[in-house]
Amino acid sequence: MIDMDTLVSLCKRRGFIFQSSEIYGGIGGFWDYGPLGVELKNNIKRAWWKAVVQDREDMVGIDTAIIMNPNVWRASGHVAEFSDPLVECKTCHFRFRADMLKSENCPNCGNKTLMEPRQFNMLFRTFVGSVEDDAAVAYLRPETAQGIFVNFKNVQDTTRKKIPFGIAQIGRAFRNEIVTGNFIFRDREFDQMEIEYFVKPGAEDEWHARWRDDRMNWWKNALGIRAENLRVRALDKKDLAHYSKGTFEIEYQFPMGWSEVEGIASRTDYDLKRHSEASGKSLEYFDDETKEHFLPYVIEPSMGIERCFLVVLFDAYQEEQVRASARTPLSKSDSGENVEGERAREEKRVALKLSHALAPIKAAILPLARNRAEIVELARKLTADLKPMMPALYDDSASIGRLYRRQDEIGTPFCVTVDHQSAIASDEKYDGKVTIRDRDSMEQVRVSVDQVKQVLIEKLGA
Ligand code: GAP
Repeated sequence: MIDMDTLVSLCKRRGFIFQSSEIYGGIGGFWDYGPLGVELKNNIKRAWWKAVVQDREDMVGIDTAIIMNPNVWRASGHVAEFSDPLVECKTCHFRFRADMLKSENCPNCGNKTLMEPRQFNMLFRTFVGSVEDDAAVAYLRPETAQGIFVNFKNVQDTTRKKIPFGIAQIGRAFRNEIVTGNFIFRDREFDQMEIEYFVKPGAEDEWHARWRDDRMNWWKNALGIRAENLRVRALDKKDLAHYSKGTFEIEYQFPMGWSEVEGIASRTDYDLKRHSEASGKSLEYFDDETKEHFLPYVIEPSMGIERCFLVVLFDAYQEEQVRASARTPLSKSDSGENVEGERAREEKRVALKLSHALAPIKAAILPLARNRAEIVELARKLTADLKPMMPALYDDSASIGRLYRRQDEIGTPFCVTVDHQSAIASDEKYDGKVTIRDRDSMEQVRVSVDQVKQVLIEKLGA
């Protein structure tokens, strides 16, 4: 597997991810997604939403506000308990997470002058309205889950869903992490995709295991992540969040080691109970069949898109040695003419072997000669025809070899090359066909111009 620096460099060079407010020196834990990054992020969201909402009878979606009544966060326990242990070095005043330290020495200055840990609350605070006093304090949500819990009754009343059923949400979350790092792995602003799945008390263990397997299958099948790079781990009791009676973590083998990419927590009725008590509004479910009123238990599969983004890129990145032909310099032929030759040489090819569904651009249309009006015109027309069907782009900014390399590196599954034979009727080899090149096999096939759209749709499985 490649190292983090190689991936960071590719993300910046190709326009996936930029440092937030880079021209001002950036700001730790915040990132901007460039033209390719936003497409990939949207494709990840789409794949998740389809699998957990649109393909299922027992799930619905929701989109709730980032800022909620601050009592939500008091009731949920986040104001009191959403904290990490912080230690500060007396010498250099750098701050660290106590549970991440590997020795008693300060990782920055090396001195043995770390102070006793204290709890640091990670909620971001702000003020609502024009008066900045304690009564106006509000919080940026640290998880999207609470927007689902406080809407449990609204959704259940309006959809008439019977348990077991779940509510899914995709949205921004904010945590004032003590330490950020490993590129976009640990951020202060990120996107979560969360499910709260409501079950009858007593059925939670069975559903916990079902969701663990379901989610693992999604990583492997919907995203195409290699099984050997994924594993599930049950957390020790001492590591559980304040609301959890048991949590499975799905982990990916990153260059920095196995790390959590998704948590599947068994949250009991903790949240619904706390919100019922604090708001004075019953959040009980009425079971038509047994005529019982009760608070459902909850299974919560929760993941961050940024970590998923990293997994997808690491898993797709491949370097290969390929044979490329290169023009040799002019030399004299037997008859004394200056001739150019062709020589095969080995070269490194970087390809992001993303699944077709995740690839930001599905097809790149490349004219072989940008100074031939007929070729350019045909390539542009093809691009315009494809665009309503799929993200496609036209590029004539370099030689064909460089254009292929660029598309391989951003994961474009197909390149369509327009040449003299495709476009110029006076060319003796004119066939009205273009070349479709497959990113993974590098195979090239000739296809009639009027069939390109259909062939690509079939190849992409769209
Ligand atoms: N509602 C439950 C919850 O938020 P969590 O384990 O704190 O649980 C769930 O977070 C997921 O959100 C993690 O598995 C991770 O993918 C993502 N996540 C958490 N903190 C993050 C951070 N600081 N930066 C990026 N992603 C984060």
